Amino acid sequence: MKPEIRRIGIIGGGQLARMSILAGYPLGKEFGVIDPSEQAPAKNLAELFIRASFEDIKAQQKLAQWADVITYDIEKIETSWLIEAEKEGLQVFPSPQILAIIQDKLTQKEFFYKRGIPVPKIYHEADQIKGFPVVAKARKGGYDGQGVWMVNSPDDIDKLPDIPLYFEEKVDIYKEIGVMVARDYWGEIVIYPVVEMLFEHRRHILKFVKVPAELDVSTLKKVKELAYEIARVLESPGIYGIELFLDNDGRILLNEVAPRPHNLGHYSIEACATSQFENHIRAVSGLPLGYPTLRKPAVMINLLCPPEGKGSLHIEGLDKVLRLPEVHVHLYGKWQAKPFRKVGHITVLRDSLNEAWDIARKVDTMLTLTVKSEQWQDV
Ligand SMILES: Nc1ncnc2c1ncn2[C@@H]1O[C@H](COP(=O)(O)OP(=O)(O)O)[C@@H](O)[C@H]1O
Ligand SMILES: [Mg+2]
Repeated sequence: MKPEIRRIGIIGGGQLARMSILAGYPLGKEFGVIDPSEQAPAKNLAELFIRASFEDIKAQQKLAQWADVITYDIEKIETSWLIEAEKEGLQVFPSPQILAIIQDKLTQKEFFYKRGIPVPKIYHEADQIKGFPVVAKARKGGYDGQGVWMVNSPDDIDKLPDIPLYFEEKVDIYKEIGVMVARDYWGEIVIYPVVEMLFEHRRHILKFVKVPAELDVSTLKKVKELAYEIARVLESPGIYGIELFLDNDGRILLNEVAPRPHNLGHYSIEACATSQFENHIRAVSGLPLGYPTLRKPAVMINLLCPPEGKGSLHIEGLDKVLRLPEVHVHLYGKWQAKPFRKVGHITVLRDSLNEAWDIARKVDTMLTLTVKSEQWQDV
């Protein structure tokens, strides 16, 4: 570890980078960002902005020259140079070797399965499938439910796109839950509270996060033990978002891990003693981690663009929402709307989860997101 990590280079300049930078300023950090868009949410907060694709190795080299450590806010980046540079001593956290395993959902599942983490049953090829329904998944590049297909019969297999895929047993889901975990340079691990994730039904996009998850004590204990074990086998500093399934037989199965801050952890900015973003910055810069203690029950609401069309975004009703106590608004500076694009989030804190949930549902109806199509600019 370098004696002092002051400059942090982030590949990806989205809202995750933006909120990480905001958490890094009080710790005296400086930031460089690579992103292909001039309108990247983190651009104006970064000391150094390199406009380039996530595959651009020259841009990665330029960032690495400036920075004391490299991290990323998106999985879809080129890892080949980072893996070689890490061997030569470049500090990249979490390790690009871990990222390369995670980028491919099949190698990710096998990695965890081999280390004793329970995952849904996997079929490499269609002819191995023993009984329907199953779920087909794109090995690489999927997000927000894009790249996941329900397969109810052998006929459905023919309709799948011609890309590298694999299959999983279809889990009889009771609840989708999640946990953030952080791991520091010395292998110390902190576990955030367990959350419940509720999705927008039209497109499979996270809409609400409720914390703490309403589960019995023994299930919560098992989930936390599993989260700890996942952080242990990952062996690299950073923050990780863990998505899990709780099924109707009481099984707890790993769905996927993201080696970065995660939408499921946004509540932690106001609801926890240390946010996921601050612990991300602490982890990658060789500082001890902060406590993840929940201060109050919370509900996070994602602000999603309407399903129709592209254009410039307008948000109505914020004035009413901003008058409410313990309701925290975050806008990412994404003023170009695309269907279901995540443009902000709101966290509601209350003394009870029920109360927070009631207010969150109201807040969601108080806001209207609209699109003016004539003002579209490509981003
Ligand atoms: N094996 C499975 N059984 C049942 N539902 C699944 C399974 N895998 C994924 N899903 C559903 O599809 C959603 C998206 O899958 P996921 O692999 O998390 O993709 P993404 O990378 O798009 O988040 C999950 O949140 C869950 O609702
Ligand atoms: Mg997912």
